[in-house]
Amino acid sequence: MSDNNLALEGASVPAFNINKNLDKIIKDKNEITNNNSLSEVPAGPTIKRRTKKVLLYNGKILTSPSGTEYTIDKKVGSGQYGTVWKAYSNDQVFAIKVIARKSVDALKFYAEINILKTLKTASACNNRILCYQESWTDDNNYYLVSNFIPGPNLFYFNQMVHTQKIKISAEQIRQILLKIAAAVAYLHAQGIAHRDIKPENIQIDMSTFNPTLIDLGLSCFTTTKFPRCKPNERVGSPVFSAPELLIGRVDDFFAVDIYALGVVFFESVMGKNLINSKNEQELIKDILSGNRTKIDTGNMQLDVLLTQMLAKSPLQRITADEVVNSLESQSWSTVPILQ
Ligand SMILES: Nc1ncnc2c1ncn2[C@@H]1O[C@H](COP(=O)(O)OP(=O)(O)O)[C@@H](O)[C@H]1O
Ligand SMILES: [Mg+2]
Repeated sequence: MSDNNLALEGASVPAFNINKNLDKIIKDKNEITNNNSLSEVPAGPTIKRRTKKVLLYNGKILTSPSGTEYTIDKKVGSGQYGTVWKAYSNDQVFAIKVIARKSVDALKFYAEINILKTLKTASACNNRILCYQESWTDDNNYYLVSNFIPGPNLFYFNQMVHTQKIKISAEQIRQILLKIAAAVAYLHAQGIAHRDIKPENIQIDMSTFNPTLIDLGLSCFTTTKFPRCKPNERVGSPVFSAPELLIGRVDDFFAVDIYALGVVFFESVMGKNLINSKNEQELIKDILSGNRTKIDTGNMQLDVLLTQMLAKSPLQRITADEVVNSLESQSWSTVPILQ
């Protein structure tokens, strides 16, 4: 059996359906009461009440069950599962992720909340990892409120860096990557694997260049806590997937994160994809065979670090703490690719 067949047979697709349009829709009880056409419907036990669906929009007020009123400002992003809105409450700024109930399993929502609550208890939020505020559900959606983290995300940031739209030194890039590695090391120290490390899930504050890790929607505990990591669960984006994840043989969930982090570092430094393939099947084949762009930054220490993070065997990959130590000891005064 070829590596490719192995990959396709061993891989199980996440059990979440995605409906990108539905996640904008919420049921608004006030709108129902005020709707004239509904008052024409005679009340009675046999008549079902119609619900009216409205879009979230700028200026709309969402009230959580705790009574907190959030005034929606604007949409700030959307991912595979949710749409994220910037909102204000009592002069504070928040992000509200709205996920359509139809698009994900309730357990997935509670899993993300549990991880975020654990991190909040561990005082990990507000520094390098997003901070949980509150959450609730209604008939149509799940709502998850966290602190608002200024962007753009690292994907757009990298584009700005490599098209020279912003001026940033190699040393400043090293500092950003070091802080991201420290956030991952912190998660791992709490027994949490992120499992969706990619530039789209890292916000970069343009005024400070401080990175913050977001989207713990696929994260899991390597211990017995809920949600517990499962060895044969294939989650995350294929571009950032370690070889062992593609064949459903994960023993070390942290090593999977390190591979993804290695791809993130590669893209940030080189300004191009690690693997160029026409479609997902080719991509999987290339990851498994190691057919990828040469790691050549012009800086020996950095090349060694990237090679260690992107080792095909998880046993040969370095840990998050080792990535932090390596980056701390490096000098990027000469990284030709970033000059
Ligand atoms: N706390 C936040 N502050 C600011 N922007 C955010 C925040 N959370 C998410 N976003 C933006 O919304 C996008 C989607 O959010 P994410 O949590 O990644 O959703 P999904 O689980 O659907 O991938 C992110 O890429 C980011 O640009
Ligand atoms: Mg995301």
